[in-house]
Amino acid sequence: MPLAEIVPAPPLAVGVGLPWDQPVGDAVAAIAAARAAHGDTFTLTSGRDHYLFTFSPRGVESFYGLPEEAASKGVADYLMLRRKLPDGIFDGRRTLPGSLFRRDDVAGYLRHLDDALAQTLADLGAAGEADVFALTRRLGHRMGLASWAGPDAADGDTFEALVEAFDTLDGSDAFVHPDAMAAVAASGKTAERAALEVVVEHVGSAVDRLLDDDVTDHALFARIVAAWAHEPEDVRRRGVALDVALIHVASMSNLAAALGWALVDLLDHPREAAAVVAGDADLAQRCALESTRLAQRSIMARTVLSPVTLDVGDAVLEVPAGWTVATLLPLLNTTAGPGLDRWDPDRWDRHRLADTSGLASPQLVTAFGHGRHTCPAQPFALAAMTAAVSTLLATYDLEPRWTSRPSPVPAQIGGIARADGPCVVAYTLR
Ligand code: HEM
Repeated sequence: MPLAEIVPAPPLAVGVGLPWDQPVGDAVAAIAAARAAHGDTFTLTSGRDHYLFTFSPRGVESFYGLPEEAASKGVADYLMLRRKLPDGIFDGRRTLPGSLFRRDDVAGYLRHLDDALAQTLADLGAAGEADVFALTRRLGHRMGLASWAGPDAADGDTFEALVEAFDTLDGSDAFVHPDAMAAVAASGKTAERAALEVVVEHVGSAVDRLLDDDVTDHALFARIVAAWAHEPEDVRRRGVALDVALIHVASMSNLAAALGWALVDLLDHPREAAAVVAGDADLAQRCALESTRLAQRSIMARTVLSPVTLDVGDAVLEVPAGWTVATLLPLLNTTAGPGLDRWDPDRWDRHRLADTSGLASPQLVTAFGHGRHTCPAQPFALAAMTAAVSTLLATYDLEPRWTSRPSPVPAQIGGIARADGPCVVAYTLR
């Protein structure tokens, strides 16, 4: 069925596509050019997908107010991630990433972060060189797997096998390397499906070990296992493992990348770094927020399932089912008001901007989102970043080996920027 038109029809950015469907070089620059040519609200067609982009203050506010039932973030995320992940991972999930933040959960995750940090320091030793983003990624794997993948998941050979599998399965490739997704589709996702079986083997066997182990240390894993308790053994093991796999791929990689940028920025700002080392946890949290804001490369998307209206300020658009409504954080976060291109942790007061008087709408700037889909992991992610940067900076003198600030992967369209190349620091014990 042909797609119904938006009424009144916004300008169409002819020939502009997204990197899943055609080579675009820098994905953010391509949308910026379309905005410069067509204004704050325009449409584009990429492959078989039809996007309505909006950047106007009212348009962005309306975007964050869209009801999930009619304009779905869940469906948009699924359509994005399935470019990379095997279909089997999505079917029949019983515990989703949204249910990770019940009372007491975060305290448990942060305990696992402490253990993961201790292990990281032991691995690093007294001196050497390390890639910042490889280090934070491994730390993220260790904390996450300890928190939800069952007994022993973050130790020894099991940890190494799971890291290798999850690095292959990495769902964030769908938006970090969108230009690689055609090859993933052409391969039949063979490597990803094999990696998923490795996860099933290791996590499945942890289901049995949980019975003899201390459940309080594995509260989330125990919840996942309980949700499959009445199934035959093979169904139970696979169901638990796929729940764990989707939670891990959907959650951890942005946190690891944001932590990497927080370290990069603090190495660039020795005064703030010294205050963080001296124990200023409030500053450390504001630094983490500020680095996350600047590293945002997220496309925020909603798949329209039933008609919605979108007030964009100079028009009220009737958007039929089948469209994807979207906005792009890197085109708002650093330009929506004066001075936003600078790293300045003092602009934050707890989780909010201290002064929004220079902004046409406070919703034009964000690190963790606005409205009903605001990241439920924000307090946890900020606490984890604060603890990790404080420990690393207090333990080591870190000397960047890069000569200019690392830059993001140009084709990336979604999530927190990934560095486009090695980002090496030399470290020695303080
Ligand atoms: C620094 C790291 C992180 C950043 C910057 C971040 C950012 C965001 C943003 C901007 C959104 C809203 C997206 C939208 O409206 O379309 C979001 C939603 C979400 N995030 Fe995070 N996130 C981070 C870490 C995590 C972690 C570690 C988890 C899980 C363990 C997580 C779970 C979720 C979930 C489940 C949602 C969807 C909420 C909903 O639809 O109601 N996030 N995140």
